[in-house]
Amino acid sequence: MCGIVGYSGTSDAVNPVVEGLARLEYRGYDSAGISYRHDGELHIIKKEGKLENLKKVLAQLKPVSSTAIGHTRWATHGVVNDTNAHPHGNDRVSIVHNGIIENANLLREELKASGLEFRSQTDSEVFLNLLTFNLDKTETLKDAIVTTFNRLEGNSAFVIMSKDSHVLYSIKRSAPLVCGLNSKSEEVFVSSDPYALVGFTNKIYFPEDEVLCESDYRNVDAPVQFYELDGSISKRFKIQQKEVKLDVVSKGKYEHFMLKEIHEQPELIKKLVSVYFSDHGLEQLKRIEGKKFQYIHIAACGTALHAGLVIKNYIEAYTKTRVHSDFASEFRYKKPVLNSDELGLFISQSGETADTLACQELCTGAGLKSYSIVNTEGSTLYRNCEENMLIHAGIEIGVASTKAFTQQVLVGNILAKTFAGIINKEEITKEYYLLSEKVSKILDREEEIKQIASEIYQRNGFIFTGRGAQFPIALEGALKLKEIAYVHAEGYAAGELKHGPISLIDENMVNIAIVTPDLYDKTLSNAEEVKARRGIMVILGDEGNKELSAMSDHYFGIDMDGLTDTTPILTNIVLQLLSYHIAKLKGTDIDKPRNLAKSVTVE
Ligand code: AGP
Repeated sequence: MCGIVGYSGTSDAVNPVVEGLARLEYRGYDSAGISYRHDGELHIIKKEGKLENLKKVLAQLKPVSSTAIGHTRWATHGVVNDTNAHPHGNDRVSIVHNGIIENANLLREELKASGLEFRSQTDSEVFLNLLTFNLDKTETLKDAIVTTFNRLEGNSAFVIMSKDSHVLYSIKRSAPLVCGLNSKSEEVFVSSDPYALVGFTNKIYFPEDEVLCESDYRNVDAPVQFYELDGSISKRFKIQQKEVKLDVVSKGKYEHFMLKEIHEQPELIKKLVSVYFSDHGLEQLKRIEGKKFQYIHIAACGTALHAGLVIKNYIEAYTKTRVHSDFASEFRYKKPVLNSDELGLFISQSGETADTLACQELCTGAGLKSYSIVNTEGSTLYRNCEENMLIHAGIEIGVASTKAFTQQVLVGNILAKTFAGIINKEEITKEYYLLSEKVSKILDREEEIKQIASEIYQRNGFIFTGRGAQFPIALEGALKLKEIAYVHAEGYAAGELKHGPISLIDENMVNIAIVTPDLYDKTLSNAEEVKARRGIMVILGDEGNKELSAMSDHYFGIDMDGLTDTTPILTNIVLQLLSYHIAKLKGTDIDKPRNLAKSVTVE
């Protein structure tokens, strides 16, 4: 979704801002812009489409500035065009905005009645105009920002720059925003995503909601200062001093980030053992060992929800506690029955997904404990939960989530066993190392998967089926395929086929059936029903299974020997590669599929 980057310092501001915006491209956007300050005047350049369009204009203009803010916009209010792109500004201030101002229409009418004019269709311009209006009524820009912000409803993050100074102001409510400092070179940064600041800063600040941040590199004692809305100094922020290397954010030898991230999985799986059985990890496991809850509510979105469905099975199997796993967007509005002796468990790669965060707030409000399974340390979800099980997947750039799913499921497995009081280092090490080996073996067979992809990619539709532990994988397989290959794909519980979807089966429909030893006979007969209707059968089953191989058009046998809980990871990785190769044959934008955003920070 929208991305924000701001810079102020002793060097050139335009390049780091554009570089930061380039790093945020993976999040999805449809226009980009920058505002910079030069000789006490504000300039704005913004272009519809890819960042390249903006870069071309900048290359000609060669702006000189040491204070700038930039933005990549993912349209919510108003069509995609240059005017609606950010920053928005006038001769006094420029602003960038992420999120949604829910009372924008009301405020717009009020401002129009006071004679202010609007050029764009955006809710963001409402903030700009209200701020400009308030500038005449308050003493300082800081006061005007607070007065304006107090009138807004909804979740938003803003960065504000004035023609009069090099100071950047930022403020947010339930939307991501971080401030950065490079103390060695006297530079301050602001961004909606710490990833944009990797390599630029040696300190990142995570302010809480409704804290005004003042970034002033010339203020030697406090270059990044935080204020409460009443003007007093605020301590409501966290600092992270961890250095992230730039090479972790490059594609390396791979054509796409998605492929690179798929190939990282064998190492990441093993990493979980060293992390969770280190002194620090064991301390956390001890803290939650044997914890009992009357009921567990899992809420998440997309791939994270599919991981939640696998985790639900683990928790129920090991702890005999009832668990419900739901779409966060449904959970938050269905008036769930919540009791204080229950647990809210939230799963998210980014830790910034608006619906998931809303569920967490809802649960906290009802007195439940909140735990997360999350990738991004310091994210809003991370900060809001009592206990965070980090998945240690590293930065995931591909919009299609791959390695995060694997890590979420495996961390969920550790959590389930810890709740049940049966966590055992030797057993987990054996399972995860064996899994890692078997994942590597699958990755070595990528050519076979590519071959299957080449034979099915032009078909009309794809139905993914599975039962039990593999049902969430059928859902995830279909989600991955549709999001990156833009083809119609559905995930179904195999036993449900004959209650409707079987009518879709003909010689142009592909059934990707996951038929593992668990519930083998039942799943096999579902596959036979499809075969009888001339559907194209791609079957994923256990290695050397002649029966499955004979009945399928394409068979992919998987070595699952010795694994107990983790076979869904193996079948899922085959499907990740299958989707990847189908998408590649179709020529889609694999890392940044159309219309999608990496982290969905609005409802
Ligand atoms: C997965 O490939 C998706 N791009 C999407 O479904 C994603 O998993 C979902 O938006 C949740 O994101 P989160 O894990 O960052 O909360």
